[in-house]
Amino acid sequence: MLFTGAADAMRRAALAEVAREIRGRDQRQVAVLDVACGTGRFLEQLMDAYPRVSATGADLSPAYAEEAAERLARWPTARVVEANAESLPFADGAFDVAVSIYLFHELPPRVRSIVASEMARLVRPGGLVVFADSIQTGDDPNLDRMLETFPGWFHEPYYASYLATNLDALWSETGLDKEHEMLAFLTKVATYRRAGAR
Ligand SMILES: C[S@@+](CC[C@H](N)C(=O)[O-])C[C@H]1O[C@@H](n2cnc3c(N)ncnc32)[C@H](O)[C@@H]1O
Repeated sequence: MLFTGAADAMRRAALAEVAREIRGRDQRQVAVLDVACGTGRFLEQLMDAYPRVSATGADLSPAYAEEAAERLARWPTARVVEANAESLPFADGAFDVAVSIYLFHELPPRVRSIVASEMARLVRPGGLVVFADSIQTGDDPNLDRMLETFPGWFHEPYYASYLATNLDALWSETGLDKEHEMLAFLTKVATYRRAGAR
């Protein structure tokens, strides 16, 4: 509703980045983590495209995690865990790609740094973080006024601080290097790589 039906199309901009990462590799050897997977819509897109990828979703909400697990049940290599993104129950470097979609605008500033560090910890050397969330102030000046008024329509206590967050600095502090950035309507997708052989 928030995105007037465009959310799945915008999520696909993140999928394009994951696809770029899988290209030329055996998908069975690729492990993807979706942090705050919600009801699993992104992982469903991923599994539709790459049905043998090893996919893990994590979400704090038991109800969302359950719905995501149901949505993904037909793929044996997909799983969902109920977990806090601040402290995820996976080993260092366990994933080739860690994705997060529409999470960071919901986090208090202090927690944004913790979750970014956690995602950086979980990708292997040479691995990739795919970040997707709301566009920010100045990304499209025609939409600045709408972004400013958005938190007044809904309960979004951290959105205003998100709009002003320097995302590149946030990820740079975790030791990751920026690769790409693109805008997809109301969504910004950016990728950050951990140093090391790919
Ligand atoms: C706006 S929804 C986005 C969900 C999903 N990524 C999508 O694209 O539909 C934000 C999600 O973040 C989850 N969430 C919020 N704080 C979290 C945390 N600390 N750890 C894990 N998940 C969290 C919520 O339960 C919710 O599913």
